[in-house]
Amino acid sequence: MTSSPLLSSIDRRVPMIAPPCSLVIFGITGDLARKKLVSAVYDLAHRGLLHPSFSLVGFARRDWSIEEFQDFVRDAIEGHARTGFNERSWETLKQGLRFVGGTFDDAQAYQRLTDTLAELDETRGTAGNHNFYLSVPPSFFPVVCQNLADSGLSNSEQSKGYRRVIIEKPFGHDLDSARDLAGVLASAFEEKDIFRIDHYLGKETVQNIMALRFANTMFEPLWNANFVDHVQITMAEDIGIGTRAGYYDGIGAARDVIQNHLLQLLALTAMEEPVTFAPDAVVAEKEKVLSALRLPADLATGTARGQYTKGWQGGELIRGYLEEDNIPADSTTESFAALTLYVDSRRWAKVPFYLRTGKRLGKRVTEIAVVFKKAAHTPFDNSSTQELGNNALVIRVQPDEGITIRFGSKVPGTGMQVRDVTMDFGYGHAFTEDSAEAYERLILDAMIGDAPLFPRQKEVELSWKILDPVLDFWAKNGTPEPYRPGLWGPEGAHLMLQRDGRMWRIP
Ligand code: BG6
Repeated sequence: MTSSPLLSSIDRRVPMIAPPCSLVIFGITGDLARKKLVSAVYDLAHRGLLHPSFSLVGFARRDWSIEEFQDFVRDAIEGHARTGFNERSWETLKQGLRFVGGTFDDAQAYQRLTDTLAELDETRGTAGNHNFYLSVPPSFFPVVCQNLADSGLSNSEQSKGYRRVIIEKPFGHDLDSARDLAGVLASAFEEKDIFRIDHYLGKETVQNIMALRFANTMFEPLWNANFVDHVQITMAEDIGIGTRAGYYDGIGAARDVIQNHLLQLLALTAMEEPVTFAPDAVVAEKEKVLSALRLPADLATGTARGQYTKGWQGGELIRGYLEEDNIPADSTTESFAALTLYVDSRRWAKVPFYLRTGKRLGKRVTEIAVVFKKAAHTPFDNSSTQELGNNALVIRVQPDEGITIRFGSKVPGTGMQVRDVTMDFGYGHAFTEDSAEAYERLILDAMIGDAPLFPRQKEVELSWKILDPVLDFWAKNGTPEPYRPGLWGPEGAHLMLQRDGRMWRIP
């Protein structure tokens, strides 16, 4: 069976190829574009997933010749492409490279862009289909959208093809600003043409949550409050904020990661089975979860936040958050955040979902651990099961992608000692193909117009509704607790679980 556009990207079997189109990247000289987007485009081209007419247009404040732009793209590919540099793929991609220099508010630059896209339609057959990727700070979204609208570039109806905009988080910094941003986007594009990237949804292991839950018999019967004690969702990084002070300070861990990546992981873990994998059906289920989320009554004990201090990590003396370049010495931005949440539904009644994320933690790891209740009764005496913990299913999102199941097993010998063991599925062992980078998948889906992996405005707003009270509470109450680099966050995060009689996993 061949794939059909009626199947969404989640359940299509054969990879679809992008239609004739261009991708215009605003802010192409920025870090994200250089390290992730350009190489993702190349990887797609190299895998044969782009149409021969495909053209990549860079838009940035540089006075570059086309040769200089080609050199920039080639360097980005050589430095970052997953599939390795191949001269033939590069030569093909190179034919479709164009560069438009100008500031984001320069009407003449948009005129040059209009001419460039017309030229591409004419000479390369991009068929009027143009994707605008705003890889720029959100403060530039209004001016870019305004200019795209004024120059007629955003208008799908006037053009013979489609016009889409792809944007990156942050989608506002609270509910009100998220709504303002939606207004800005809506002034130029229809909702169906707006693709919001949450790159976690492009990860193979994240999409596999749906396969695990809905393609198998074994797990779903246990996936509820009768059997699940609690769920822990961790996104830990061992790096600090690096050179990103300008973006990170004032934003912090909760807005940077919980509002988007972790709440999306929670939604996929907790949602009901969608009727189909069509975008509307998947989104409807995620929205139900996000609308059913509830914060604990006491935010002082049900949340935690921290800031890394100076200290040793991996044999290196690390600067504290407040000593990082361009961070004000009195910054109260959190580099670690943890939250307790409940999903008020019959399936999840009273089951806590513990979320945590932070920089400068023990190691880079993202995982979802579904921790089961202890057996109601075991016919062993207590000393036999002293070393037996709760059964758990751990989805290892990254690195070392896979799934671990932890359960008790008899220790070989004449006595009856039961101890935790694990059963493991690793992508590296089970599959020969490498997983594509999240951006490859998402850029391709945006070009195809396939939207189940892109959060909608309603999801964005529901996520802010959950986070806003926590951020308000933190703003009014104290400052982040210090934590040493290389450990697993501040004392408050450990107490948050200890009070409930539980412990964080050390991944
Ligand atoms: C981004 C955050 O969304 O995700 C960064 O803004 C973080 O702060 C990054 O470092 C981590 O992404 P990944 O895919 O490496 O887990």
